[in-house]
Amino acid sequence: MTTLANPRLTPVSDPQRSPVPDDIRRPVAPAALLPLYEVPAGCATTYEEIADCPACVLAKTRSRTVPGSGPAPCDLMFIGEAPGQREDELGLPFVGRSGQFLDDLLASIGRSRTDVYVTNVVKCRPPANRDPNPEEIAACRDYLDRQIALVAPRVIATLGRFSMAKWFPAERISQIHGRAVQRDGRWIVPMYHPAAALRDGSLRAVMKQDFAQIPSLLAGTV
Ligand code: URA
Repeated sequence: MTTLANPRLTPVSDPQRSPVPDDIRRPVAPAALLPLYEVPAGCATTYEEIADCPACVLAKTRSRTVPGSGPAPCDLMFIGEAPGQREDELGLPFVGRSGQFLDDLLASIGRSRTDVYVTNVVKCRPPANRDPNPEEIAACRDYLDRQIALVAPRVIATLGRFSMAKWFPAERISQIHGRAVQRDGRWIVPMYHPAAALRDGSLRAVMKQDFAQIPSLLAGTV
């Protein structure tokens, strides 16, 4: 993966560059997250366009865009819903509490955040963490489609109902979670959103079980 010297994609606040007063400067990411800022060479143009995107109202309230993290191409891709507060501050997906649980789930299948690709249906935070609306999802659709093409994963795990709806618009997550379906030569596996498992502890084991099939889908042994 190439690290690009793109000031808008780097996590450090630079007083030379920014007229923003100290007290409202964005936080600097913890060192452990810095590898997640690396931009795969093929994704640079898309990330730049996202960084400047004016296409919906979320552009007015975002602190940072959250294009995605991880290598491209990559065998395994996760698609969540939309950035929350911490993600908006840092410009990285799944770095709040849901992200910690996602990291645990990845560890349970021997993977880590630096070797999977993670993004969201919507690249900017909806105010007060409301659900993204259809116009916002439509405004980001082309970015997501380009990311899927660039990442070219063997397996896509959707996290929550908004990304599930891209492939299964009429289904209920409680009915189809964990059921992998082949589409366009890859596996799509709908999963609960990690935040749902934080609200309802019984879903933790369900998510772990749904994750457990990912290695065999990747290996082509299903
Ligand atoms: N929830 C999401 O769906 N995406 C994030 O990036 C963080 C929380």
